[in-house]
Amino acid sequence: MTNKGGLEEAIVADINTSYIDGSIGKLIYSGYAIEDLAETTSFEEILFLLFNTRLPKPKEYESLRSTIAAEASIPDAVINMMKSLPAATPAMAVLRTAVSMLSAFDPDAENLSDKDLAQAKAFRLTGQITTICAAWMRIAKGQGPIAPRGDLSVAENFVYMMSGDEPDATACAALNVYLVLLAEHGMNASTFAARVVTATGSDLHSAIVAGISALKGPSHGGANSEAMKMFIAIGDVDNVLPWFEQNIKTGQRRIMGIGHRVYKSNDPRAGILRRHAEALAESSGQRKWLDIAVKLAETARADDYFVQRNLYPNVDYYSAVVLYLLGLDIDMFTPLFAMSRISGWSAHVIAQMGGRLIRPKANYVGPQDRKFVPMDER
Ligand code: ACO
Repeated sequence: MTNKGGLEEAIVADINTSYIDGSIGKLIYSGYAIEDLAETTSFEEILFLLFNTRLPKPKEYESLRSTIAAEASIPDAVINMMKSLPAATPAMAVLRTAVSMLSAFDPDAENLSDKDLAQAKAFRLTGQITTICAAWMRIAKGQGPIAPRGDLSVAENFVYMMSGDEPDATACAALNVYLVLLAEHGMNASTFAARVVTATGSDLHSAIVAGISALKGPSHGGANSEAMKMFIAIGDVDNVLPWFEQNIKTGQRRIMGIGHRVYKSNDPRAGILRRHAEALAESSGQRKWLDIAVKLAETARADDYFVQRNLYPNVDYYSAVVLYLLGLDIDMFTPLFAMSRISGWSAHVIAQMGGRLIRPKANYVGPQDRKFVPMDER
């Protein structure tokens, strides 16, 4: 019997980091509703929550924030490697390569058993990924990278390192909401990839590289940049209906940022991000992209095909508008997703350490009982 793949019914671990009920659009992080966390917590608080199943006290928060900021620098060799890459290298390929290279400079990279050390490495990587993302945005444009500051949060440091200017509070707040919303999401494809690598006894950097590699695909994290390219290709709100007729009704392509393996109703993160896209569209005077996104989502939701298949905008849909209005290059959208999801990946990796090898079965459908024919007789 053939198998359609996808493993949707398989349960591979007991977890305490997040719970999703896709039938009613519910997401919680360690017991807290995402709606209660999104606008009230910092990304560092969420990182602490994912590692400790409780929110930090003020001193614990400050200790984590300052540790991440203090360790966010990246070695000159990694910066030089990034400078040596063609400017057109996909940013996710740069991130994957840089994280892999960082392992060579991490004194604890090959310690595979100590969970405290793994946690320290995860915090270091969290800051370093922030620095890599901001540095590549500048290097790809021929500008010099800017070093991280010890007094800033992850969101603030990224905004600061993009330009070197004092970070704008509105931009930092919007980015922080994005980082909180994307931090963790059950056994998604990239988290599963990271856990599979960890279950072989391999190291944290290798697991994170696997997570980045899986996230890169357009069915997963790559959908945010593809969604923005789609809004730009549509170009104007008046073009939405003809574009939908020509591209979607003909079955030629999927709407990027719509549909989800788990959510068969609203993705709660999409609604929160839509509100932030609204605020940014108003404050920047650039309504066009949000208007296109809203009209396209409404057009899809009014169409029987999307209704029957329970296809709703997912987290990548409105986050594309948010990141674009924050001034990010489209190629950087998926690395920003990784900059947040490093938290969920690391929490899963540490939980998986010392666990059993993950090794499912395949359904063999090839030929049987063939008679071997030597090379010179074929
Ligand atoms: N546009 C049009 N049709 C779609 C879409 C879409 N975006 N997504 C799914 N469908 C259709 C499929 O063609 C299929 O139709 P069928 O039953 O007639 O064959 C049906 O809906 C079910 O789709 P599957 O591919 O079986 O669903 P699956 O759970 O495997 O895929 C996925 C989920 C990959 C997210 C899919 O919805 C998709 O490709 N969406 C666009 C890419 C995207 O936004 N990815 C980001 C997901 S969120 C995240 O990873 C962070």
